[in-house]
Amino acid sequence: QVWNPSGKYRVVSTKSMPGTRWIRLLTDNDCRLEICTEHKTILSVDDILALIGDRCDGVIGQLTEDWGDVLFSALKRAGGTVFSNMAVGYNNVDVEAANRNGIAIGNTPGVLTETTAELAASLSLAAARRIVEADQFMRAGLYDGWLPHLFVGNLLKGQTVGVIGAGRIGSAYARMMIEGFKMNLIYYDLYQATRLENFVTAYGQFLKANGEEPVTWKRAATMEDVLREADVISLHPVLDKTTYHLINPERLAIMKKEAVLVNASRGPVIDEAALVEHLKANPMFRVGLDVFEDEPYMKPGLADMKNAVVVPHIASASKWTREGMATLSALNVLVW
Ligand code: DGY
Repeated sequence: QVWNPSGKYRVVSTKSMPGTRWIRLLTDNDCRLEICTEHKTILSVDDILALIGDRCDGVIGQLTEDWGDVLFSALKRAGGTVFSNMAVGYNNVDVEAANRNGIAIGNTPGVLTETTAELAASLSLAAARRIVEADQFMRAGLYDGWLPHLFVGNLLKGQTVGVIGAGRIGSAYARMMIEGFKMNLIYYDLYQATRLENFVTAYGQFLKANGEEPVTWKRAATMEDVLREADVISLHPVLDKTTYHLINPERLAIMKKEAVLVNASRGPVIDEAALVEHLKANPMFRVGLDVFEDEPYMKPGLADMKNAVVVPHIASASKWTREGMATLSALNVLVW
C-alpha cells in the first residue's frame, strides 16, 4: 500500500499500524510511505531486505523482526538513516550493528506505561482469583451450585506485591496494586524508585488518618528477598544478557508455594521449561504470562496447566496506546 507516491523520502513500514495520524505525519512531511501488506505475521530478514530495496530513507519495524548487521547494512546502502521500532523494548535490535552502520534507532516509551501496567494488574487478579479457570468451568457446564470450596483463590488486600524492575511500567503497576488493593510493596531495582516510595508513604499516611491499616514499602537488597517475601510478583526488567533466565529453578524454589508470578516484560526472562515443572509440582502456585520464551510458541505442557493464565503479548494493546506507538514511530523517523 503506497501513500503519497511522489514524496521525496521513501519510508517503509513493515506492518500496517493502528490509526491514521502516523500516516498523515509522514505524508505531510514529504514522505512516500509504503506499508507492507504481506499476510505473514513474522517477516524474515529476506522479506525485509526486499522491502528496503535499492533506496530507502527509513523503516518502521516490529519487535518480531531481527534487526542486525544484515538489515542495517542494507538500509545504509539504500541511503537510510533511521530504524524506528514500534515498541518500547528493543531486544530485537542489535544496537552495535546499528551504530556501526550509522543508523539511528527509535523506540516508543511512555505511551504504553499505563496500558502495560493494567494488563500486568489484570493478570495478577486473573491468576490470584482463578478467573480463567472458573470461566472455563462455567462454559463447560460444570457449575451445579455454590460450594464453600469452589475456586478459592488469594485475597490481595494486606498481602505483599513484589516488583522486579521499578522503572516506568513497574512503578505504574505497583501503584495500581497498592492503591487498588491496599497491598504492601517490596521492590528490587538497581536504582531507587523515589517517587514510588513517596507515593506509598503518602498513601499509607492517608489510610492511617482514615483509621485503616497503612501500607508499607521496602527496597530489597537482593532480588531473592522479593522472591521470598512477596505474594504477587511482577517482572519488569529489560531483556539483556543479565536478565536472561532471571527466573530459574533455584529462584522458583524460594518463592512462596501459593505465590502469583506475572510476566509482561519479555519471555526469556523466565526459564519457561523450568516454570512448567514448577507449576506441575506446585498446583497452588499461579502465573499470568503475556510473553513467552519462544514466541509465538509455548513450552510443552504450559497450555495444559490450570494454574497458568496465558495471553498473546497484548500488554500494550489498547487503542489509545497502539495509536500513540504508531505516532511516535513516525515521529522518530521524521526527527532523523
Ligand atoms: C513493547 O513495546 O516492548 C511491548 O512488548 C509491545 O508493546
